[in-house]
Formats: sequence, structure tokens, C-alpha cells
Amino acid sequence: MRNGTIGTRKAIHLGLACAALLPCTSTANERAGSEPPFSAAEIRSILAHGPWPAPSPRDPSNRVSRKAEAVEFGTQLFFDPRLSAKGNVSCGTCHVPERNWTDNMHRGIGNAEMDRNTPTLMNVRLGRWFGWDGAADSLWSQSIRPILEPRELGSSPRHVAELIRNDEQLACRYRNTFGATPSASNDEAILVDVGKALAAFQETLFSSPGVELPSGSIGAQPATSMRLPTRTARL
Ligand code: HEC
Repeated sequence: MRNGTIGTRKAIHLGLACAALLPCTSTANERAGSEPPFSAAEIRSILAHGPWPAPSPRDPSNRVSRKAEAVEFGTQLFFDPRLSAKGNVSCGTCHVPERNWTDNMHRGIGNAEMDRNTPTLMNVRLGRWFGWDGAADSLWSQSIRPILEPRELGSSPRHVAELIRNDEQLACRYRNTFGATPSASNDEAILVDVGKALAAFQETLFSSPGVELPSGSIGAQPATSMRLPTRTARL
């Protein structure tokens, strides 16, 4: 009898529990497959904050920012170890595309070990200050630092300028990008332009789909851009 009573109570309890749970479960199921329950006006006001990421304008301090020829020239320079004094280190030595533009090491190593680790270059164009200490305020000036830093490429304005002047391919790409032959006497001007072409290339390293990029840019290819799964991608 006792057992029977308990059994009946249990059954009633379970029944109530199920009755209480069922509507919730089915509502959750219904919602899982459908759009979020926003009104048309709410959706409009949410979308008004987008598109994400906001399309970034050209870098006004870099006259070849977003120019296709500059992107090509910068791509070649980025992976060219001849920019370094000993011909042994390129930007790509530490900013490795397959490692999301970093090197997976505690500290970057070029000619010698650095004090800091190598940041990724993915989405670098969204930055306002560059380097862990914010030492540069433009992507192109930040790109000159590793060329001259003894522990990275350890190079000099003269070495870089001579390379660009004397290599047929590089001189041709320089002309296409800047519309003039490399200066015969102004080494620093060529070094600055190299920084600007390198920056134009790095601006294309963007992780989000649907962003307009100059043709031929590496960042436009899925192999080098991280893509969010559709469900987590933003509107
Ligand atoms: C020896 C490894 C190494 C090499 C080679 C190297 N980098 Fe870096 N890079 C670093 C490290 C380390 C930092 C962080 C520097 C700091 O904060 O002092 C950095 C920072 C940067 C940043 C700033 C990123 C940010 O989000 O602030 C840019 C841009 C950059 N490097 C571009 C380049 C370019 C262009 C080259 C080739 C000319 C290059 N790097 C070569 C290791 C390297």
C-alpha cells in the first residue's frame, strides 16, 4: 500500500515535471532552427551599426595604400631575405603565413633573439599604434623598424636602396608602384617607399570575409585568411 502510494506520488510528480518542462522544451526547439525573435524595426536598428568590420579607408599617410601594384611589390619584399644585411632573414621568417603571421615562439629570432614575442599581422591595418610599446603610429613606419633593427633584418638604407636599384624585377615593380624610377641618390626615400609597399601588402591580411581587397592580394584568398563558421559570423 505504502509503496503504491509512493509510486503514485512519484508518477504524479513526474507527470507534473514533464508537463512543466514540455512547453519550454518545445519552444526552445522551435527557436533553435529559426531566426532570432527580433522585430523588423529592431533588426534595422541592429544592422545600422554595421557592416562589421567597418570598411577601413585607405591609409592617408601612405600614397600607395590599397594600390594593387603596391600589394604585389610588398608581397615580394615581405618574403625576400635579400633585404637583410646577410641575406638570411625576411619578414616572413618571423611572421609566418601558416602560423597566422607569427612564429609560435616565446620570442622572435632573426639575427638574434628579440625581447618580445612576434605579434600576428592578421588585421594589423585596424591598429592605431604598432609594436607592443606603440612605438610607431603608422603601419609603414613600423615596417621600416625591423629592416634596420640589428636583431631582425639588420639592414641599412643604403643596402635596401642598392637592392631595389640594381635588381631588374624589383626596380620594375617599384616603377609600377610609385610611377618613377628609384632615386639614384636618396637612399632614405627608397627605404620609406619600401615601408609603404610592405604596409600595402600587410593591409590585405584580413580575417573577415566580404571585405573588398585589391585584386591579387594574398589576404583575399581563403588559404591565408581565417574565416568564422557561418553560424558565428556576424551579420
Ligand atoms: C626576428 C623576427 C621578426 C622579423 C624578421 C620581423 N618581425 Fe615584425 N615583429 C617582430 C616582433 C618581436 C615584433 C614586436 C616588436 C615590439 O613590440 O617591440 C614585431 C612587430 C611587427 C609589427 C607590429 C604589429 C602590431 O600589431 O603592432 C609589424 C607591422 C611588423 N612586425 C611587420 C614586420 C615587417 C614588415 C617585417 C619585415 C621588414 C618584420 N616585421 C620582420 C618580429 C619580427
